[in-house]
Amino acid sequence: MRTHYCGELNSAHIDQEVSVTGWVNRRRDHGGVIFVDLRDREGVLQVVFDPDDEAMFGTAERVRNEYVLKVTGKVRQRPDGTVNKEMPTGEIELLALKLEILNTAETPPFQLDETEVHDDIRLKYRYIDLRRPEMQARMRMRAKVTHLMRAYLEQHGFLDIETPMLTRATPEGARDYLVPSRTHQGQFFALPQSPQLFKQLLMMSGFDRYYQIVRCFRDEDLRADRQPEFTQLDIETSFMNEDGIMDIMEGLMRGLFKDVMNVDIDAKFRRMTYAEAITRYGSDKPDLRIDLELITISDLLANVEFKVFSGPANDPKGRVAALRVPGGNSLSRKDIDGYTQFVGRYGAKGLAYIKCNDVAAGRDGLQSPILKFLPDEAITGILQRTGAESGDLIFFGADAEKIVNESLGALRVLVAHDIKQVATGWSFLWVVDFPMFEHDEKENRWTALHHPFTAPNTDDLAALEADPGAMLSRAYDMVLNGVELGGGSIRIHRTEMQQKVLSLLGIDDQEAEDKFGFLLNALKYGCPPHGGIAFGLDRLIMLMTGSSSIRDVMAFPKTQTAACLLTKAPSAVADRQLKELHIRLRKPVTEG
Ligand code: AMO
Ligand code: AMP
Repeated sequence: MRTHYCGELNSAHIDQEVSVTGWVNRRRDHGGVIFVDLRDREGVLQVVFDPDDEAMFGTAERVRNEYVLKVTGKVRQRPDGTVNKEMPTGEIELLALKLEILNTAETPPFQLDETEVHDDIRLKYRYIDLRRPEMQARMRMRAKVTHLMRAYLEQHGFLDIETPMLTRATPEGARDYLVPSRTHQGQFFALPQSPQLFKQLLMMSGFDRYYQIVRCFRDEDLRADRQPEFTQLDIETSFMNEDGIMDIMEGLMRGLFKDVMNVDIDAKFRRMTYAEAITRYGSDKPDLRIDLELITISDLLANVEFKVFSGPANDPKGRVAALRVPGGNSLSRKDIDGYTQFVGRYGAKGLAYIKCNDVAAGRDGLQSPILKFLPDEAITGILQRTGAESGDLIFFGADAEKIVNESLGALRVLVAHDIKQVATGWSFLWVVDFPMFEHDEKENRWTALHHPFTAPNTDDLAALEADPGAMLSRAYDMVLNGVELGGGSIRIHRTEMQQKVLSLLGIDDQEAEDKFGFLLNALKYGCPPHGGIAFGLDRLIMLMTGSSSIRDVMAFPKTQTAACLLTKAPSAVADRQLKELHIRLRKPVTEG
């Protein structure tokens, strides 16, 4: 139908007769001449209709936005003064010789260049939304990234192997999406939260290096970087340790950033222990483009009268930390009130601060509602340790460690963005030496920080049993600009260790057998040492395209409440279907 894409034409094509197809981006009538901007995948082309050909001109007059056209014409130089340097095709235009309307279009619910379109409308008419050039660019970058991932991994000997979608509950710790079985009354499949156990089984089968670009399903609370179904680049290898796996993954990322964005990434990614990340940045995915740090000052405040500080300072599970904001003195009362509310969401009971007008003047040069509660030594100590200078502001968190870390960790990122102290560039980081277990205070039990198949940093079963809280795991996370891009680990490959870890997690033999019997069995038949990682593909593309949500890089995402506005899923189903599935609803649901 066409000889060229619209966006492909340029001055090299002048005087050629070409045919193009596409959508009407805009029609303008200019004193007897009609201009149509015709859009396709590759760009926009200006088409000119002369009134000389009356029939064709009449057809052109009927054309509206989003009509689908085929135009045959002659490429010509645009007249002086009308050249548009902003457009790749801006030097030329197509003088139409023949026009065919391939299809008409109703007035679209929004114009493609409208900026304030409600998300719900965009999602309901996603097929129109996806016509927008920025959406096209994102989907194209996504396709390029997955293509390059496959090429890189295949070059490194990885095999693409599919794993089931209808399966048993998998162990990533979110809620499952269940699928009722028709042939097994009262029984359910679970959609995979990840292919974790299958990829381990593939290692036991001897495939040595596996990868898959695979959909995962998790019924969890949604956020900007979480969708109920999302895509992982999932990887597993045998006979490799952490360093080997990390090297291959660094090479993958370096290649992607070079080939897709022509960005050079440092040869070796920085590594940081979980403990250091939490202490200095209050987060296990610190954004190192931000210089601000949490500084422990518990010891300076253990003896002050001010209970808000001395309480947590003397509590072994408490922490008092300072966050110095260079130049933060200019923050207003209103800003600080906003930040106080913000940290409240993380459980902080307040947000003390000191404004440093003139540090040389000591107490007199400072301004703060808590000054009167602090003796001189404490003030001097705080100024020294934080390295505060005149013009700075210091925030304080005093509470249980977890609350201080989470609240000041999040505040650090928010304030840095507000005062524009975030460096540009790409900050890759490996976080390593995670604790093996986390204690769930409410339920008084241990939970796995990664998943129950992650190997501890010891082969000593007795040591593990004696002090589970002190054990580190062989897990690693890749972090990019403060986003957890991927996570993985070396796995347990011996039965006794796997049983011990499951039992420490409060999973008794019977439950272990019921849920993971197939894996425990497989471990007995010659399981190689193995490990792997999975990356959130959507998150990677979100960062690479500078989008603020993974929704913007998925063709057909779901809403905040996990619904598809386009197809109106989920939906009620016919009684007959429910009967076949042996399901009786307590209250019938009707469509709509
Ligand atoms: P994990 O649960 O850490 O590990 O997931 C790996 C990566 O997947 C991405 N991710 C998500 N992206 C969008 N929406 C979600 N709801 C969502 N949940 C996770 C994140 C995350 O880093 N089987 C293990 C991997 C392994 O051990 O090899 C796993 O799934 O970027
Ligand atoms: P109060 O004595 O409750 O009026 O608090 C005095 C100051 O300390 C106020 O600026 C509070 O915001 C702050 N504050 C109270 N609780 C905490 C806390 N747990 N951590 C940090 N600052 C706090």
